[in-house]
Amino acid sequence: MSMQPSTIYLADYRPPNFSVSHVELDFDIHPTQTRVVSTMTMKRHPQGEAIIVLNGFELTLIAIELNGRELLAGEYHRDEESLSIPCDEFDVTVRVITEINPLDNKALEGLYRSASMFCTQCEAEGFRRISYFPDRPDVLATYRVRIEADKAECPVLLSNGNLELSGELDNQRHFSVWYDPFPKPSYLFALVAGDLSAQSDVFVTASGREVALHLYVEAKDLDKCDFALEALKRSMIWDEEKYGREYDLDLFNIVAVDDFNMGAMENKSLNIFNSSCVLAKPETTTDQAFQRIEGIVAHEYFHNWSGNRVTCRDWFQLSLKEGFTVYRDAQFSADMGSAAVKRIEDVALLRARQFAEDAGPLAHPVRPASYIEISNFYTLTVYEKGAEVVRMINTLIGDDAFRKGSDLYFDRNDGTAATIEDFIAAMAEASGRDFSAFMSWYSQAGTPEVHVTERWDETSGFYELAFEQRLPLAGGRENWKPLVIPIRLSLLGEAGALAIQQAGAESADNTEWVYELDQYEATVKFGPFNERPVPSLLRDFSAPVKLVDTLTDEQLRFLIARDTDAYVRWDSSQKLLLAEIERAKSDSYSLCPKLSEALAAVLADDAADPALRAYSLSLPSEALLQQGESVDPVALFTAKDRVKAAIATELQEQFRTIVAQRVSWDQYQPSAEQVGQRLLQNLALDYVVKLGECSAAEAQFASANNMTDQLAALRSLFRYADRHPMAEFISQWAEDGLVLNTAFALQASARDGATLADIQRITEHQAFDFDNPNKVRAVFGSFGSDNTPLFHAKDGSGYEYLGDMVLKIDESNPQTASRLAAPLTRWRNLAPAYSAAMKAVLERLAGCPTLSKDLYEVVSKSLL
Ligand code: ARG
Ligand code: ZN
Repeated sequence: MSMQPSTIYLADYRPPNFSVSHVELDFDIHPTQTRVVSTMTMKRHPQGEAIIVLNGFELTLIAIELNGRELLAGEYHRDEESLSIPCDEFDVTVRVITEINPLDNKALEGLYRSASMFCTQCEAEGFRRISYFPDRPDVLATYRVRIEADKAECPVLLSNGNLELSGELDNQRHFSVWYDPFPKPSYLFALVAGDLSAQSDVFVTASGREVALHLYVEAKDLDKCDFALEALKRSMIWDEEKYGREYDLDLFNIVAVDDFNMGAMENKSLNIFNSSCVLAKPETTTDQAFQRIEGIVAHEYFHNWSGNRVTCRDWFQLSLKEGFTVYRDAQFSADMGSAAVKRIEDVALLRARQFAEDAGPLAHPVRPASYIEISNFYTLTVYEKGAEVVRMINTLIGDDAFRKGSDLYFDRNDGTAATIEDFIAAMAEASGRDFSAFMSWYSQAGTPEVHVTERWDETSGFYELAFEQRLPLAGGRENWKPLVIPIRLSLLGEAGALAIQQAGAESADNTEWVYELDQYEATVKFGPFNERPVPSLLRDFSAPVKLVDTLTDEQLRFLIARDTDAYVRWDSSQKLLLAEIERAKSDSYSLCPKLSEALAAVLADDAADPALRAYSLSLPSEALLQQGESVDPVALFTAKDRVKAAIATELQEQFRTIVAQRVSWDQYQPSAEQVGQRLLQNLALDYVVKLGECSAAEAQFASANNMTDQLAALRSLFRYADRHPMAEFISQWAEDGLVLNTAFALQASARDGATLADIQRITEHQAFDFDNPNKVRAVFGSFGSDNTPLFHAKDGSGYEYLGDMVLKIDESNPQTASRLAAPLTRWRNLAPAYSAAMKAVLERLAGCPTLSKDLYEVVSKSLL
């Protein structure tokens, strides 16, 4: 950056001076010199100023015309990021001719080359790297796109909408013309040109429209298409049934690309996917990856309504489409597999990573008020916390009103760029509920805490719960407004859930109740009861808060054994395990016998879902452990390892039995049943390897017929055994880039006895590539988050190393660099020795004069 980058504020939003109703785009594709001719039909807004503002970045301008007349240099103004033309007319045609160099584009925004194909990524602000355009989501136009390219190099030419025309040209070139009838913002534009093969299918919509489905991949990947296509069809039916949303064109394309900054992109009728988020077959793809793929295919498809038909007015509204769409894909995944398991997985992610974000220097509300670089705001807060906010709306108004509100939102805002207020207005109208107090969820950053205390009066039988909400990030009450927090609760007695009777109420027939805490403090009185209830609180994780309770270990064990809510059972075991890890910081630690008994009972409970049993015996992630003040990551890592070893020893017979009685299927399916069983078996295997018993894992590694079992065996051996088959694994899968990425990630994660040189060596493998975000994330992402001993090395060498790598990657790919920098931003939470070493690295980065906007924002805000 030559200048200090500027901050954009939500409060400064103004509609554009000129809108674009239609654009004709003409691409003449050559690897280093692609010519783009854009002809825009523009109209001045009645209140708009007499100046046309176009965004553009790193473009070679060839010519610009206004109403057919070429403009001279003095007739427009151009700087690094924009081009403006004074113009007092109301209806104009602007034509811009630019040249770009896709081959040199390593930022992977705009038009770039990935392997042998050309492809685009325009969200959020990539279109401005293709042509001068009002590159903002509130400018909606229809697009006609002509693509011309070498026929041998690019036999397949794709863009949004329907194919209108195609044909042959001289010089071995050919062309095709696409027209998209749905007005869209530039961020949904897409183009793909390359040597691709397709697997195809057909979907018939509820109203009988036949939709051709194509998944385009490199020829070598044709055997990895079935699962995503099936997932797509499941998503299409589900959205019709659950939300009444039908697909609206005759064609739906997905393209898999290897070089992609994010997971996938919902471009109208031409979704582009990171190949790791779409390609799958049992031999190369783990259960978790299958489930992730199903969720992402659904997510991008669901955007066709929540994002495309109704889009966002400005990027501050990002959660309008992302929060809602993540909520929709979570509901879909819950319906496809086990709802309880999906919920626990989502909560674990939110608590480990979103809570950390909310407590760190880049904390921001679900709707941020300002940003320097919008790419930095594709965050867990905007996506996952945003989805939790939508879930709470559903909880508060019920399923029927929620569906009505969703229908109203789509009807009323179809074809427009909306705001979060538009969404809430529809929900309010459909339910008759006032959402004004609820809106603070969108504007207040930080994770709220709910402190609960119980009071039991033995003689009267009355039982009280006193709640208090706090927002530590904001400080005193004068700085923040109380949130509306739905707390789903039950009161459990010896014989099961008690009928919830509020003191003084006539009758009680429900055993579960959603209490709405909407004050700083409130007390609820229940009873009379003839036994003291055990409270089951925040069931199904009904709000994205930290519940701080005073439950005793005995009450927690009771919940583990007796509650019917899977989340509360799991959460109670996590609470006990967290406390156990704290205790294990002491050298004289030994496993609490009562905890051991409780875990043994969970493990032995054959009636329970194996996945839930596995999660209850999984130790909390590093990201969760490292939250709090003055954290010593290495001490926690060591303590966690001790707890793991102790559980392995105490429950060894049970683990050995599970391993010995391992079930396997000839017909692999990523079904809830099989996935759960493998999860439990591989958890048991991991504990057994931790004990030093390697033969079962070695056998499983060699004989597994699926990647889940093979990788699980490798992971346990790699972590804990002296001998491990990593080299065999890498040579077995030398031809499969996606599998190699998982090997790189595992190599970069913590291993007994490893050194920094081992990490550096991964990048010397011939398949490693600094320009490929998946590979870079595999190594440096897992180094920063899954390798506590080396990343947090006392001498600061781990921080230095990640800092160097981030700087190197920032030169070519700022988006990826700034994401990889996240682990370096947490210095304030660390104990002094770590903290000083990490801060020194951040200061070094901050002093670097060439930082991208993306990295500048992360580094500078971390040091504030
Ligand atoms: N809208 C995409 C999704 O949620 C994410 C694309 C964001 N890309 C980016 N480079 N910021 O599926
Ligand atoms: Zn999305």
